[in-house]
Amino acid sequence: MSSATLSLGHVLRRASEHLDKTSETGRLDAELLLAHTLGRHRIELYTDFDRPLSSHELDAYRDLVARRARHEPVAYILGEWGFRGLTLNVDRRALIPRPETEIVVERALTHLRGIEQPDVLDVGTGTGAIALAIADEHPGAKVTGVDVSPDALELARENVARTGLAVELLHHDLRAGLPGGPYDLVVSNPPYVQPADLGTLMPDVRDYEPHVALVGTGATESIARAATGVLSPGGHLVLEVGDGQATTTAAMLDGLGYSAVVTTPDLAGRDRVVEGRR
Ligand SMILES: C[S@@+](CC[C@H](N)C(=O)[O-])C[C@H]1O[C@@H](n2cnc3c(N)ncnc32)[C@H](O)[C@@H]1O
Repeated sequence: MSSATLSLGHVLRRASEHLDKTSETGRLDAELLLAHTLGRHRIELYTDFDRPLSSHELDAYRDLVARRARHEPVAYILGEWGFRGLTLNVDRRALIPRPETEIVVERALTHLRGIEQPDVLDVGTGTGAIALAIADEHPGAKVTGVDVSPDALELARENVARTGLAVELLHHDLRAGLPGGPYDLVVSNPPYVQPADLGTLMPDVRDYEPHVALVGTGATESIARAATGVLSPGGHLVLEVGDGQATTTAAMLDGLGYSAVVTTPDLAGRDRVVEGRR
């Protein structure tokens, strides 16, 4: 069979088998990359298995599959990724928004219910995912996102333009405290990987995502401390934490005088969100 006559179904199967060697989601990766190559929705591939791929399409697809086989995250290859109701630009300037962070947004929105124009601060905004999702799902919210990384802020600005949502972005280092206030809600998915654990991360994460977004010692506590000074009385702090960090973070919030300290699990049942009321 010449490469010009390879069918979509055959190529997909081969790519999927190849990616299964390096990815836990080989089939899904292969489908997403093929749909991207062909400018189609993934679901449309299933009605087109017999379609022959042109040599141009095959070459383009092989390039993307080779990048994925070298552990480059699919989201970075596609250049965009879904987060709650939004599709955001993503690239190596910032962390890829994760499904567990959608739960952070869910918890944050719970505390904004009934407040018409809440003031919200997202600390370490990255792509702007949390800030933008809150602005999208709580119209009227006045959301500010801060980050120490100029690269991340540039990407977040692209996402503000892409979504048309009103989020203010500021360059700010949380080690200097938190800016502005008073806020009804401070939310953050801070860097929480311990430096010693960097080597244990999957190469997809360790070798591609910005280390400033991953590694942090003390960021969670710094935010929780500083938030006591910028939250309105009764305002809420919602934090994403690493696997195994929920109990100590909840105790830390208790110690700082937060009330109603609650922990929420992710879809895998791991406690990943900790919140409290000032
Ligand atoms: C885990 S990422 C979260 C990104 C985004 N909020 C999300 O959930 O997808 C942490 C973010 O904190 C930022 N960051 C790290 N150190 C910081 C600091 N000292 N001050 C402010 N932001 C910081 C990083 O640049 C990164 O964008």
